[in-house]
Amino acid sequence: MPKRMTVLDLSRLRAAGRPIVAVTAYTTPEGRCCDEAGVDLVLVGDSLGRAVLGLPDELRVTMADMERHTAAVARGVHRALLVADLPFLSYQVDLGQAVRNAGRLIRAGAAAVKLEGGMAQLPAIERILAAGIPVIGHLGFTPQSVHLLGGARVQGRVRKDADRLLVEARAIAAAGVSAVVLEMVPAALAAEVTRVLDVPTIGIGAGPGCAGQILVLYDLIGLSARVPRLARTYADLGAAMATAVAAYAGDVRTGAFPTAEQSHDGRGWGGTAVVEGAGVPGEDVP
Ligand code: KIV
Repeated sequence: MPKRMTVLDLSRLRAAGRPIVAVTAYTTPEGRCCDEAGVDLVLVGDSLGRAVLGLPDELRVTMADMERHTAAVARGVHRALLVADLPFLSYQVDLGQAVRNAGRLIRAGAAAVKLEGGMAQLPAIERILAAGIPVIGHLGFTPQSVHLLGGARVQGRVRKDADRLLVEARAIAAAGVSAVVLEMVPAALAAEVTRVLDVPTIGIGAGPGCAGQILVLYDLIGLSARVPRLARTYADLGAAMATAVAAYAGDVRTGAFPTAEQSHDGRGWGGTAVVEGAGVPGEDVP
């Protein structure tokens, strides 16, 4: 059995000069595929809302959604570090609730939680860490603040905003986060943050100067309705799925599926071979 990654391995990878490879996943088979592909970190992101649940944004994702999908992914991940997102309003309102919700995601199978924000979230970060739960930070474009930020926009383009982001990054790193996700940040700023922090950065739309990279799985495998510029699509599973389902539909309509090969005989109830065009009362009905 391969050794399981922990949050400590993120800094070890960085120290060894090895880029951290991270990807999101939402289901057991996705977790299994990502784990077998040898990624270092699997994130059950609140991108779940848009990617899987057909929601318009991350703001409607609930603790129950995150708990259920974290548990599903955990059943497929046995080596990578499993991180789960704390969803909108699960940690911003009340510190006790923040710790309890982080604990729910750990009990569902995560080994760390991720939350968005800088200095404003220091109390939540500290309380969750005090409960023994590792935290990963998230700065730059933070989707849970999409309305405040005026949309999905690059953050830190002007020096004043860049300096602010540096201060926020230093503050959460000093509080003890194990890594910082930098989303939609100019490459030069992300490289600067990476240089000054003693914890690794993991970029998404933040250029090559981060200690690692993360992508939304569905952008990578061609299952997203709209792939953002920051992503690269490595396979078109959406097209492959549509082709497979269309072939199946064609076979059903022409009678080419099912054949005797996919049918059960009537042994046990006295029937003969295959009843054409009808289901056979089967031994596999629970
Ligand atoms: O929810 C998510 O998928 C994320 C990644 C984009 C980092 O937070």
